[in-house]
Amino acid sequence: MHAILATLIPFAILIVFGAPPADAGTKNTVTGVEYVGSKACQACHQTQYKAWENSLHTQMVRPIAKGDFKNVKADLTAQGAPKPDQYDWVYAIGGWYKEERYAYRDAKGNVVTGEFEYNKPQNRFVLRKDRAGNLEALDWLNSCGGCHATGVDYNARQFNELNIGCEACHGPGALHVKNPKGAKVAVDKTSEGCGQCHIRGQDTSKRFGYPIDYQFNKPETLLAKFTPIPVTDTGSVYPDQKNSNRHRQQYLDWKKSRHATAGVSCTACHDPHVGALSYRTGMLRAPEKAICGQCHEAILANPEKHSGHRYEQASCSACHLLKTIGSGSVTTHTFEAVPPAKTIQYGVDDRGRVKMPNSCTVYCHKAVDVAAMDAKYKALFKK
Ligand code: HEC
Ligand code: HEC
Ligand code: HEC
Ligand code: HEC
Ligand code: HEC
Ligand code: HEC
Ligand code: HEC
Repeated sequence: MHAILATLIPFAILIVFGAPPADAGTKNTVTGVEYVGSKACQACHQTQYKAWENSLHTQMVRPIAKGDFKNVKADLTAQGAPKPDQYDWVYAIGGWYKEERYAYRDAKGNVVTGEFEYNKPQNRFVLRKDRAGNLEALDWLNSCGGCHATGVDYNARQFNELNIGCEACHGPGALHVKNPKGAKVAVDKTSEGCGQCHIRGQDTSKRFGYPIDYQFNKPETLLAKFTPIPVTDTGSVYPDQKNSNRHRQQYLDWKKSRHATAGVSCTACHDPHVGALSYRTGMLRAPEKAICGQCHEAILANPEKHSGHRYEQASCSACHLLKTIGSGSVTTHTFEAVPPAKTIQYGVDDRGRVKMPNSCTVYCHKAVDVAAMDAKYKALFKK
């Protein structure tokens, strides 16, 4: 199946919502320039193309159809699964590490993201409902499209390519393809370039679930028309009003860290092109030890002095990038080693579950009482 997808997905598909199909030469009404699709970059940029083709950025949204679920990744024998003939299906979304969602065409012909959510780590389906208690049906282009497709024209309600194509990060390429040396595309190494999508909130007109009109290499334009979820939103941020408890908030987390103030951007640690198709790799530039060691040499030279642990006992990310989000598959990017004191401070909910996890007890010292852990932490880190 992967071989078929790999050949299918990179082709530029012009997909239209309601509006009549646009010609291939139609200018994007938002950027004023034409998108040509990733396939058009392949011949001259084999290295980047091959790497990118093998990353999850290319495999997020896959076509499905009524009666045709072969691109669905979920275990369809799990309870509550959608049926292949239930809707006029259009896309299966995700399903690699956290969840899979499904979009269909409704009676009016609009593409909507529906109620089914497959929770991958727990291998079960849940039905999503809106505030009024109705089955969820969200306009796909306005709620999801900006981050799961490339060349989105929100005025004309169309886009150029499914998934995160070359032009999502480098901008429209029509001029460059015709005149590579004369017309350059953008190369944006700022965290805002990734923050276009690795973020949560709403645009200021309240129509879109993603930032609009971001200009490459102009970090200040990211939030000009976008309101990030507030730190007091307990559904998305832990009660310490710092660490995330929902996925795709890496930019908002990072912004609160000293990596942001010191200018250590996403691309310092992540390679924007290199990943693996079948699982989440983190797209790191090198093994973690080498990456962190590049700048934190003294700590890597003697991890035990730093934290009382050998690297083999606890890696840097075991304490500093907790996987506390999305059923344990996504990390917080504040880089905080969360102390047990926070767990004690915020207490438990009505069902007796802690409101705030900590770095000591999530993976390792599960059986140790949090008060005892707090005492150990204070002795070790002299806090
Ligand atoms: C006909 C060949 C050709 C095609 C097609 C092409 N490029 Fe290029 N690209 C080049 C050449 C040549 C350069 C180096 C230009 C220079 O150094 O002046 C380049 C440079 C680049 C750079 C680096 C720019 C910089 O300032 O460092 C990026 C990024 C890039 N191309 C992206 C793309 C993308 C995205 C596409 C598809 C939309 C694409 N290219 C299609 C030939 C091509
Ligand atoms: C997720 C964002 C992203 C995507 C998708 C992406 N790039 Fe890049 N690209 C970057 C960034 C950021 C750089 C700057 C160099 C770096 O950080 O490694 C870059 C650098 C480049 C360069 C300059 C040479 C180099 O490797 O540094 C070329 C050429 C290029 N990209 C082509 C492409 C092509 C072709 C595609 C699609 C097949 C693509 N990129 C997809 C973000 C992206
Ligand atoms: C602001 C950008 C943005 C918007 C809007 C957005 N997403 Fe995402 N989504 C992402 C990013 C970035 C990731 C991957 C990072 C992560 O999971 O932390 C992701 C991950 C996912 C995943 C999990 C992927 C997996 O393989 O497990 C699913 C499913 C998903 N999104 C569906 C949707 C749906 C459905 C919508 C619309 C209702 C939507 N997203 C809206 C940016 C966005
Ligand atoms: C100091 C290094 C560093 C910086 C800076 C950094 N990351 Fe990460 N990132 C990591 C590590 C380490 C992982 C964990 C990889 C793993 O689990 O194997 C990771 C994982 C991820 C993942 C996979 C899902 C998750 O959250 O675990 C995404 C997406 C991601 N980072 C996006 C970003 C974005 C976007 C930025 C910039 C706003 C960023 N990262 C900045 C080191 C970094
Ligand atoms: C146009 C939206 C968009 C942009 C821009 C973008 N991402 Fe993503 N990213 C996504 C989505 C959506 C996913 C989820 C893919 C999936 O699950 O199939 C994702 C997944 C990832 C992952 C997890 C995949 C893995 O193998 O672990 C990493 C890491 C990541 N992105 C880093 C980056 C970095 C670094 C940048 C900036 C150079 C960036 N992204 C820019 C939308 C985007
Ligand atoms: C490109 C250099 C660079 C890389 C790579 C890097 N760091 Fe950093 N890190 C810094 C700088 C600079 C600071 C800020 C130091 C200061 O403010 O005194 C910092 C600060 C931190 C902090 C304190 C954060 C805070 O908000 O208080 C932690 C924790 C940290 N780094 C962990 C890591 C880990 C873990 C890795 C590897 C995944 C890593 N760093 C990779 C340069 C880097
Ligand atoms: C056992 C848990 C643990 C491990 C493993 C760990 N750290 Fe830390 N680290 C901490 C704690 C706790 C702090 C102090 C946090 C605070 O100041 O609130 C800290 C602080 C830091 C700081 C900030 C120092 C400063 O000047 O404020 C950096 C940088 C850092 N760690 C990097 C790393 C790197 C790189 C690794 C991997 C070799 C690593 N840590 C492994 C627990 C750990």
